[in-house]
Amino acid sequence: MNTLPLVGTAPLVGTAPLVGTAPLVGAAHLVDAELLDDVRERVLAVPGPVTPARIAAAVHESGRLLGTAGTLAAVELISAELSGLGPLQKLVKDPRVTDILVNGPGEVWLDRGDGLEPAPVSFPSEEAVRALAVRLVASGDRRLDDSSPCVDVRVAGGYRVHAVLPPISTGTTLLSVRIRRHQAFDLTELEHAGTILPEQRSVLESIATGRVNYLVSGATGSGKTSLLSTLLGLAPSTERIVLVEDASELNPAHPHVVGLEARHGNVEGSGKVDLAELVRQALRMRPDRLVVGECRGAEVRELLAALNTGHSGAGTVHANSAEAVAARLIALGALAGLSPEAMTLQAANAVGAVLHLERRGGPRRLATVAALAEKAGRLVVAPALVRLPGSDAVRKGPGWDALSARISEESEATA
Ligand SMILES: Nc1ncnc2c1ncn2[C@@H]1O[C@H](COP(=O)(O)OP(=O)(O)OP(=O)(O)O)[C@@H](O)[C@H]1O
Ligand SMILES: [Mg+2]
Repeated sequence: MNTLPLVGTAPLVGTAPLVGTAPLVGAAHLVDAELLDDVRERVLAVPGPVTPARIAAAVHESGRLLGTAGTLAAVELISAELSGLGPLQKLVKDPRVTDILVNGPGEVWLDRGDGLEPAPVSFPSEEAVRALAVRLVASGDRRLDDSSPCVDVRVAGGYRVHAVLPPISTGTTLLSVRIRRHQAFDLTELEHAGTILPEQRSVLESIATGRVNYLVSGATGSGKTSLLSTLLGLAPSTERIVLVEDASELNPAHPHVVGLEARHGNVEGSGKVDLAELVRQALRMRPDRLVVGECRGAEVRELLAALNTGHSGAGTVHANSAEAVAARLIALGALAGLSPEAMTLQAANAVGAVLHLERRGGPRRLATVAALAEKAGRLVVAPALVRLPGSDAVRKGPGWDALSARISEESEATA
């Protein structure tokens, strides 16, 4: 049962065909816009969560005789409209779908593992897209309006929603929805999916169960957060994991996890709690592992400082190649006021391994496991185990010895 709060007055989009909703095939035509309006008004007239039972009761009260199939169709359409992803909800029935992108009322795309493809969904108007965006954002306790036209928010059901209103978006309202799996992948699933190879798996296990600090890197949507969730689940169950995230996404299968989520201030900026502040707070919460979901600003300084003072931790960072992680860290350090030299020392000491993911159109793959080191005053990413392009083979690289030394050092220290 979805109990998202009811916000806004989203126009009805119920006339869109219901593709793939088994019980409704042949019944959707019974549900016209007039009925939807009527039922919607009845449901909205009474505050409280929208439940299928309330919708069914409202259909009954409307006096229209729809029979079982028609009532089911109405319940499903209206539930989807008032709670959940609206007309996009049916796309999520395919478990392979990871992203849905709405570029306008008639242009919806999805990603189910083979790159982007057009989705069989449309909205009746730009207002309908905007209304859905506003409602989704509000259900995540944020506001989307002219004073706050770009919002990234996690909403119930495991979705992360990003919305931009025009004129910041140069066309119509843009929505990007990321669908999170309810359960993190385990290593066996990743191996079956071809994301990791057996040789990589054993190295990942050593890194994740020991206290080697690591960063998962990759481009957008390459699977960084998912791999980090998987690996955190391998931490010993006696450890306490404290997660610090901008929008909570990590879901490690681990018995002792607590999470902190940043708060974006109001228009004047008051009430803001940023990631750097959360890292400082997390340090007072007796973390065995301190995790920053995504390092993309000054919080990297707090994280590295913590990792250099005996804490153990992990995070993700955006980078298009393993080698680019060094430049990215230096750039993030600059945002935090750290010189390249200071950042080089901090990062090389703090981070034992970089796990770089790649996605070239098809499946997501762990491309490189690398060590971070300082060489002649520069931060370098030394590949330790590299997956050969287009093959299921790996080869050791120049960073192998440094990585192995780090793994055995940390496992001796914890033994
Ligand atoms: N190895 C995988 N195989 C199949 N699907 C995956 C894999 N890893 C991640 N996914 C799916 O791909 C989507 C993106 O994954 P994830 O959020 O982990 O990527 P990301 O790199 O953290 O993205 P972002 O750059 O937006 O932070 C999710 O829906 C996730 O379930
Ligand atoms: Mg991520």
